[in-house]
Amino acid sequence: MGASAKTQKRIESLRDEIRYHNHRYHTLDDIEIPDAEYDRLMRELQGLEKEFPELVTADSPTQRVGAEPSETLQTVRHQLPMLSLDNVFAEEELREFHQRVAEKLEFEDGAADLRYAAEPKLDGAAISLLYEDGVLLRAATRGDGATGEDITHNARTIDSIPLRLIGNGYPKTLEVRGEVFMPRAGFEAYNKKARAAGEKTFVNPRNAAAGSLRQLDPKLTAERPLDMYVYSVGLVEHGELPEQHSEIIEQLQAWGLKTCPERRVVTGVEGCLAYYEAIGKKRDALAYDIDGVVYKVDSLAMQRELGFVARAPRWAVAHKFPAQEELTTVVDVEFQVGRTGAVTPVARLDPVFVGGVTVSNATLHNIDELHRKDVRVGDTVIVRRAGDVIPEVVSVVTSRRPTKTTRVQLPERCPVCDSHVMREQGEAVARCTGGLFCKAQRSEALKHFVSRKAMDIEGLGAKLIEQFVEEDRFQNPSNIFELTNEELAKRERMGEKSAENLVKAIDASKATSLSRFLYALGIREVGEATAQNLATYFGSLPAILTATAEDLVKVPDVGPVVAKRIRDFLNEGHNLEVIQQLQDHGVHWADTDPMQIAEDGPLTGKTFVITGTLPGMTRDEAKALIQREGGKVTGSISKKTSYLLAGEKAGSKLAKAQQLAVEVLDLNSLIALLK
Ligand code: IVH
Repeated sequence: MGASAKTQKRIESLRDEIRYHNHRYHTLDDIEIPDAEYDRLMRELQGLEKEFPELVTADSPTQRVGAEPSETLQTVRHQLPMLSLDNVFAEEELREFHQRVAEKLEFEDGAADLRYAAEPKLDGAAISLLYEDGVLLRAATRGDGATGEDITHNARTIDSIPLRLIGNGYPKTLEVRGEVFMPRAGFEAYNKKARAAGEKTFVNPRNAAAGSLRQLDPKLTAERPLDMYVYSVGLVEHGELPEQHSEIIEQLQAWGLKTCPERRVVTGVEGCLAYYEAIGKKRDALAYDIDGVVYKVDSLAMQRELGFVARAPRWAVAHKFPAQEELTTVVDVEFQVGRTGAVTPVARLDPVFVGGVTVSNATLHNIDELHRKDVRVGDTVIVRRAGDVIPEVVSVVTSRRPTKTTRVQLPERCPVCDSHVMREQGEAVARCTGGLFCKAQRSEALKHFVSRKAMDIEGLGAKLIEQFVEEDRFQNPSNIFELTNEELAKRERMGEKSAENLVKAIDASKATSLSRFLYALGIREVGEATAQNLATYFGSLPAILTATAEDLVKVPDVGPVVAKRIRDFLNEGHNLEVIQQLQDHGVHWADTDPMQIAEDGPLTGKTFVITGTLPGMTRDEAKALIQREGGKVTGSISKKTSYLLAGEKAGSKLAKAQQLAVEVLDLNSLIALLK
């Protein structure tokens, strides 16, 4: 039976839509829909064309691997085409793939011992690197698989791409293929900076990698934190390579090319599934995005026997993870008020399953970001949830925008307390000016006050705080210490026992430390580390209360902005009153001697980061030691870090230090430095 007119129309509209997105993706570098949605369109079209083969046309998007490369860069013809991979999503589909391979290779007993090279499917941009006599001659993008673009100028700026191979025995002509990607941390940092500068942000790390590779100016590429792993070879002339894929990759590694450390050789479909599960568990902890795993028949002889269908090998398959980006619609845009009064736009969404959870709210960061993305009620948007990062709206699918939508405006008044909303010059954040009068700010301030790293009052949950604030029973944190068993037990859903426990917890919290107390006050810019530094430096509260901004900036890690925030806070009479009331209620701590900082110590001008378990010394003790000798201690490694003090079980920070060539010390070498 032939296709109905309706089916023919659907096929045409799918082709149009896919062509439109191909153009956006490959030529404009400006994607509009997530991969998962693109895959669905493609699969639907493939399904229909399979059912009605008479309708397949030569110009159908199913008949090519990608789209035309754009014309701004030189085109390069790949001597061997750069192929794509078939995808499977469900276990059943993977079993079918394995079955086909096993049958074609005439294996018996389910081919339980067939060896596969298993690797993460890196979510970046494919690259071809051509080495002639071990020297990088040309780098190209994949393009449509047959022709790509010459991006040699950009590839040369990526540190992990060797300009010359090391060792010997490499073929005279060696083309390697791999994936260029932007590690997640670099992506977040890049976007944060771009956001602050009011510049365009990247939608996701993959787009960031693809866009960076195709820059015309290599200086721009050089500023992007890119990395690369190789995963296969292309053209090989005048030379020999091993006969197993896994051994080839080992060999490439030995020649100085970076390969993914997560790759393994597994056997049978069960081995593949176990690998898929293991990498799935590890996915969030990896430093880079992956969207699945790839299994390749390890033996090249078998690969040759299996051959290719259309543009994909029969000997390999991509086993995809659930998508981290999905489409949904914006039901509403609301403004939330945080502890410091920051008014943050939040999108209320039609619930959507993404990154392994159902998401119904996503942050829009701030009003500038909201306007840059121009998210409107009724819009179809891409929502992204990667790892533990909070879900965010990445972009709007403007081609699906309904008619009659309006731009969202920053409210002039706080949605909670009706105070004016103000924006300081040059700040992205708008704030409610209500202070503790604003119930939203008050609730958040109290939640912060009782939190584990602050006063650590267990049992005083968010709900209860909100109720007490709503009733105006809580005006400021000192009211917490007025609560009695009788008052609490009278509350709904609060038994006598829990009332008693809460009063005990409140009482126990009174014995605290100066640093916890300072942190609990919730002064802007005074986080845990700064509170600790202030406490160590001054040793007592009166010393801090009377410190001038000039005194304050002498504290390690405190700059003029933080000093001003502290002074501003302490200049408010009502804040001083609360501090007094808390002490009147019995909140206390032990004072210490003010710190003597060497003005010209052995570590003056040096910045340290501490990681791992140090022998016979806590990290806080090590920190105090460094500070006493004039050094600074910060929380994260950057190019400005002078030393990483590393103990046992040092993890990602050690890797980062090595990457940035920051000198690593153990405790003994630090002590040697002090002499
Ligand atoms: S092998 C013939 N291995 O996935 C096999 N590809 O759809 C060709 N990719 O454009 C690719 N990680 O950029 C292979 N470990 C991996 C990969 C990988 C990511 C990308 C590659 C290609 C696409 C294939």
